[in-house]
Amino acid sequence: MRADRSAATAVTAQQRNILVVGGGGREHALAWKLAQSPQTACVYVAPGNGGTATEPGVENVPIAATDIEALVAFAGEHAIDLTVVGPEAPLVAGIVDAFEAAGHKCFGPRRAAAQLEGSKAFAKDFMVRHGIPTAQYRTFHGLDAALDHLQQVGAPVVIKADGLAAGKGVILAEDLATAEAAVRDMLTGNRFGAAGATVVIEEWLRGREVSYIALVDGSHILPLASSQDHKARDDGGRGPNTGGMGAFSPSPLVTPALEQRILDEVMRPTMAGLAADGLPYVGFLYAGLMITEDGGPRVLEYNCRLGDPETQPILMRLDTDLLTLIDAALAGALDQAVAEWHPQTALCVVLAAGGYPGDYERGVPIQIAPDATGAKLFHAGTRLRDSVLESDGGRILCAAALGDALEDARRRAYRALQSVALPGGFYRRDIGRENV
Ligand code: AMP
Ligand code: GLY
Repeated sequence: MRADRSAATAVTAQQRNILVVGGGGREHALAWKLAQSPQTACVYVAPGNGGTATEPGVENVPIAATDIEALVAFAGEHAIDLTVVGPEAPLVAGIVDAFEAAGHKCFGPRRAAAQLEGSKAFAKDFMVRHGIPTAQYRTFHGLDAALDHLQQVGAPVVIKADGLAAGKGVILAEDLATAEAAVRDMLTGNRFGAAGATVVIEEWLRGREVSYIALVDGSHILPLASSQDHKARDDGGRGPNTGGMGAFSPSPLVTPALEQRILDEVMRPTMAGLAADGLPYVGFLYAGLMITEDGGPRVLEYNCRLGDPETQPILMRLDTDLLTLIDAALAGALDQAVAEWHPQTALCVVLAAGGYPGDYERGVPIQIAPDATGAKLFHAGTRLRDSVLESDGGRILCAAALGDALEDARRRAYRALQSVALPGGFYRRDIGRENV
């Protein structure tokens, strides 16, 4: 009896409590994966969603992802050994600095390094300073100078609000009138608040987009599997930009030769440039890349976090314990870590609320029938209210499936989506097809 009990205690003593910050599909996937680790006792998710509420080994905590003070207090009270941050807002606001100051481990870049995503002007200046390929650009604070510049460069042209704008701060302007309206809106309207007080006007790059995400420990890079997402709302790559309507991994565009170029021309210079600027980067680093006609990668944007929905197919393919990889990154030992990837392709399709990415209704009941396809439903904008699942966001959930080839994974993910009924909901029919 006694021997048994102490053996059980020994196992428990090694197990750790993890806190995942965020409440989207990416965080559901992170919590699901971390809960599979033999090293994990409980995975808390703040605030989580209707999917994490019922995920085995996972518990929701009613604290907003941006309430850093309450999250630090929770970590102290619940013996949290490691916090993993999903979204950019708390990272840009300095959640890692706050956790470190309180003596808690928190995985992600500190506030100063998270500017790479928090300020597009900072990111552009950084890339120029370190010779990292990106679109030609100029930064403006004043309306007259910005309008003069638009007259000189003409359309098509891309206008970006400097700060975080929840994925809505980028306008791809086909004509000058649209470009001028966007610049006016950002610099004199109040649509983007402080995020729009500075605008970046940049060259419109043509090519194919790839999401390249890696774990970074300050000195080493461990690439995750490649992926692509579909940002446009409608089939054929049409309609307004969204946070992402579906994704798949690996990306057939990322050949070994291209991957080498991405590492040599983008990822390593980015990590080294940050270190040289006194901003050592630890966390997930996401480069949104345009692979232009000459075959070279150019950086469209950096994200200081995992992609959503790219994380969902990427983590479905990860055969290694994610906790072990994050530990290696926090220890500065990613050069000794190996990530094993399932050889199959993974693909996810997002079900969105009618009206998304514009206004949409919340509180719409969602029915999910039992599904035998082996696919996984990762929730995003859902909540459980009195045991009833209802909508609570624009992107509701995604169906993610593995398959022997892209087409096979597609078929399974779409079949799994048939088990979900959301009045007014919609999804793209061509995830994984040509027009990304
Ligand atoms: P960003 O938030 O900067 O990634 O922009 C959102 C999306 O706008 C990107 O994923 C691209 O599809 C598109 N985009 C951004 N910058 C450019 C550019 N310079 N040329 C073409 N497309 C762009
Ligand atoms: N799917 C794009 C992003 O996470 O930024």
